[in-house]
Amino acid sequence: AVEKTFVMVKPDGVQRGLVGEIVSRFEKKGLKLVGAKLMQVPQSLAEEHYAEHKERPFFKDLVSFITSSPVFAMVLEGDSAVSVARTLMGKTNPAESAPGTIRGDFGLTIGMNIIHGSDSTESAAREIKLWFNDESVAYDRAVD
Ligand code: CMP
Repeated sequence: AVEKTFVMVKPDGVQRGLVGEIVSRFEKKGLKLVGAKLMQVPQSLAEEHYAEHKERPFFKDLVSFITSSPVFAMVLEGDSAVSVARTLMGKTNPAESAPGTIRGDFGLTIGMNIIHGSDSTESAAREIKLWFNDESVAYDRAVD
């Protein structure tokens, strides 16, 4: 089924100049970019985005990292977009991500793992709503 997913290049990926390379990989795979913005993440948004990790010992570090410099947030659309995007990203821990995946090729540590992607269609719906206004997502009206 055609799905939308939320993907974000984290501060380390933006600072290292990997946005173009990463967007290109998703586009070449066939996923369509239907929303995108470079932004500094407010503390409140970071905390809400990562709410499920609130009790984890790394929560504070995670929030301060994600708010440390701009991220590139996007919405990608296509068949099975949620799982396809996760396959392209590789495992959460870059040390275990396969070569050929985004984290496998560019990352080394779990704290700075370059990219985030929704882990389910439910998370995708929640995260897209959290990060984007309806008007700023082209949805199905994007020109093919
Ligand atoms: P992400 O997919 O953005 O979702 C939660 C994030 O928490 C994850 O990527 C990691 O970057 C981060 N994370 C998970 N485990 C750890 C850890 N042990 N130390 C620091 N960050 C972590």
